[in-house]
Amino acid sequence: MLGRKDTAEAVEKRMRINKYIAHAGVASRRKAEELIKEGRVTLNGKTVMELATIVKNGDIVEVNGSPIYNEEKVYYLLNKPRGVISSVSDEKNRKTVIDLMPHVKERIYPVGRLDWDTTGLLILTNDGDFTDKMIHPRNEIDKVYLARVKGIATKENLRPLTRGVVIDGKKTQPAHYNIIKVDHEKNRSVVELTIHEGRNHQVKKMFESVGLIVDKLSRTRFGTLDLTGLRPGESRRLNKKEISQLHNIAVNKVK
Ligand code: URA
Repeated sequence: MLGRKDTAEAVEKRMRINKYIAHAGVASRRKAEELIKEGRVTLNGKTVMELATIVKNGDIVEVNGSPIYNEEKVYYLLNKPRGVISSVSDEKNRKTVIDLMPHVKERIYPVGRLDWDTTGLLILTNDGDFTDKMIHPRNEIDKVYLARVKGIATKENLRPLTRGVVIDGKKTQPAHYNIIKVDHEKNRSVVELTIHEGRNHQVKKMFESVGLIVDKLSRTRFGTLDLTGLRPGESRRLNKKEISQLHNIAVNKVK
């Protein structure tokens, strides 16, 4: 007779196809739906037409013609140096964050992006659901940046950032700033900015909207994580406690 555990294991594993793709770390669930709508996903050789398609044990799912597999979920923290791009590959053969982590066997990818010239904290994982949760602005996870800007930062010129400024036709969520240093001689300032969103070049565009041009940018904190002990280019695996702390702050902030 089968015990409870044996019975559970004997039950065929079934999963909705977008969830399967997210579990495999290929894309978030929402992005997986887009891939399906674009006809880029096949199940056992046939293009998937239905978002509600179920994947069973032994099924072969391919995205853009490559088979995908579910593997153990892993989470890494990287101190990204300048001059490296935050994607898994690059058509111009530039160095990517993945090139900095040859020891990682799983197919990880960055949670959000940092620009080529931005340094600092980047999480990489193969967990699509975790990624969705970390980058969704509704979850209000603090992303803290240290920016050196050309010009003199004052409470007056930075105030609009706390209410939200319009960039690319859409208002940003209120941000928090802290003026760290003002150098009148060199006409530049250092400002810490905390935001919850991750729009394209967001910090640079936010400063630009108040007349300050960023010439150096670094992400110093992401939720409960900082870069203590990691030099530029170094990475380490996150432990279970760190991962659950990130899950907790995201969950607790959902309205
Ligand atoms: N905002 C930017 O402008 N650049 C980054 O790399 C990250 C946030």
